[in-house]
Amino acid sequence: MKILVTGALPYANGEIHLGHLAGAYLPSDIYVRYQRLKSRDVIYICGSDEHGVPITLAADKQKVNPQDIVDKYHKSIKESFEKFGCSFDNYSRTSLPLHHKTAQDFFTKIYDKGYIYPKTISQFFCHNCNMFLADRYVTGICPNCGNDKARGDQCESCGRWLEPFNLIEPKCKTCGEKPEERQTTQYFFKLSQFQNTLQKWISEKTNWKDNVKRFCEGWFSQGLEDRAITRDLTWGVKVPLAEAQNKVLYVWFDAPIGYISSTKEWAEKKGKPDLWKDYWLDPNTKLVHFIGKDNIVFHAIVWPAMLFAHGEFILPSEIPANEFLNLEGRKLSTSENWAVWLPDYLKEFEPDSLRYALAVNLPENRDIDFAWRDFLSRNNNELADVLGNFINRVATFVNKNYNNNIPDNSKFSESDNEVLVKIEETTKKVGQLIENFQIKEAIRELMTLPGLGNRYFDYQAPWQSFRENRPKCDTTINVCCRVIASLSITLEPFLPFTAEKIKKLVQIQNKNWDDAVNPAFGKTLGPISILFPKIEEKVINAQIEKLGKPNVESQPVTSQVKEKEKQMEITFDEFKKIELKVAKVLFAERVAGTDKLIRMEIDLGTEKRQIVAGIGLAYTPEFLVGKNIIVVTNLAKAKIRGVESNGMLLAAVDGADISLVTLEKDIKPGSQVS
Ligand code: MF3
Ligand code: ZN
Repeated sequence: MKILVTGALPYANGEIHLGHLAGAYLPSDIYVRYQRLKSRDVIYICGSDEHGVPITLAADKQKVNPQDIVDKYHKSIKESFEKFGCSFDNYSRTSLPLHHKTAQDFFTKIYDKGYIYPKTISQFFCHNCNMFLADRYVTGICPNCGNDKARGDQCESCGRWLEPFNLIEPKCKTCGEKPEERQTTQYFFKLSQFQNTLQKWISEKTNWKDNVKRFCEGWFSQGLEDRAITRDLTWGVKVPLAEAQNKVLYVWFDAPIGYISSTKEWAEKKGKPDLWKDYWLDPNTKLVHFIGKDNIVFHAIVWPAMLFAHGEFILPSEIPANEFLNLEGRKLSTSENWAVWLPDYLKEFEPDSLRYALAVNLPENRDIDFAWRDFLSRNNNELADVLGNFINRVATFVNKNYNNNIPDNSKFSESDNEVLVKIEETTKKVGQLIENFQIKEAIRELMTLPGLGNRYFDYQAPWQSFRENRPKCDTTINVCCRVIASLSITLEPFLPFTAEKIKKLVQIQNKNWDDAVNPAFGKTLGPISILFPKIEEKVINAQIEKLGKPNVESQPVTSQVKEKEKQMEITFDEFKKIELKVAKVLFAERVAGTDKLIRMEIDLGTEKRQIVAGIGLAYTPEFLVGKNIIVVTNLAKAKIRGVESNGMLLAAVDGADISLVTLEKDIKPGSQVS
């Protein structure tokens, strides 16, 4: 059997936080590492979700292009996942051409099969921003709970799913203007046709988690409705239809297809471009989607329906969805910075401490609170004082009394045997729990072993038997080393960095989970290191202090740079990087609904461009036409009030008084300014 494990593709519009880790990535990584130790044919697929309104909103906010946003976050998400030990076989991104093609082919196939149809509907349009407002571009008052910051797709306060038209006093998220209703054509996926198929399919999943099944039943009882799978946006996968030029696929249509394209990329990197088919086209593959509960409807209903419609690919076997992680008694909120960001965490602490603290308290069946003090006590009292202490005292004993040679056992007594039996039982039980996605129970069970080891060590008192009964002492120490060697295998899925250190200590060669029952370890001890340094109270207090305060790191890229640049001296070479050219204004008009902004079409000699400038209070469009101005031409494109600006004109500013920088002589457009 083959196993294809996925972690929900995170949006590349921000860093990973603890909620993400507890929801999908830590449990999936533990599961995959375990399956690898069982020598199963498993691949672990993930990547950045780089489309959708969360990305374009972040880009608008920071006044950069969506591509800049996803480039930045894709890189840093990928890095922090690696440091945290997430062992993806491939971490892809949905802006790759490979993904666009895969998603378009998917669309075309189900379109040709008649599962997609166009329909003209009313949508909100902001005349000020000159664009149709996709769901999250509209905010307003939630009709359900009265929250005045509800989004067009959902109210975060009460959790209700919404349509933009449900909102009371709807507003354009970008400019605050009241949007108007306009007709537009979108493409709909015939989800309603799949209700029976899905219901039957899910009813056969007797082992699925309750939260997932209940959620689906709720949807079925309301009746599935067809869903629009296109949007009037420019950022995304283009709809592969000639008559839908300015439309892109809805992000939730293309994102799950990312699981397929990431597998394709993995196969390509392996030099076997067809290898992805061994997984996606083989009904013997077990497809497992790890997600957080906010993703259930897409993974358990919409995506399977898409797969049914398509017909060639396998369907998910398991969807172990986790509940939410709260933080210090409050709901996580990225906008209020009530969150712990992974890169920040990793600057100060070890990945395994967090892996442990999260794993023993995963929100598997209900929302769980993460508290820094609990983290501290898990690290200091459990990892350091129980696990670390056990290993350390045994290692120190061998080092001092046996000159680092691990003694052989003689005959095992009953109490020795009890420990050996416990090793075997625990290994099996932990494995079984992981296979059932009971990760929290699994690590809790496993941590009873070092506890038992400590009690056994105390009870056998080797410091006494070393003098009085050497064979007994030898056996005690040998048994302790077996526990340690066994743990170096079974801890690997949970604490991979620590497991690596323990492996070096007991010089273990085994690679298989089942070897943990009776591990073969070395004759001598390797280097002894402190496995879990204790964390001080004040360090934790500083973390608690930070919550809810603005995070410098998450500030827009541009404003950070600006602060630094204020007094910065630059070299001539740096100055030369700025490309300044003469441009002739061909056309100018005010940006609708604003008095400050003017949109201009300019001639740069070799090309024509559009720029937007905030000079509307000082100049009329008529005055500008025909003027020669100076423009920075190699500035990243920006969207101002929804209008693209590809260049920046130079002007002198004195408070409200603005003077355009013009040229004394008529000089050819496109001439360099230096
Ligand atoms: N980006 C989504 C989120 O963070 C998850 C996408 S999962 C996928 O909620 F299946 F669509 F890829
Ligand atoms: Zn607007």
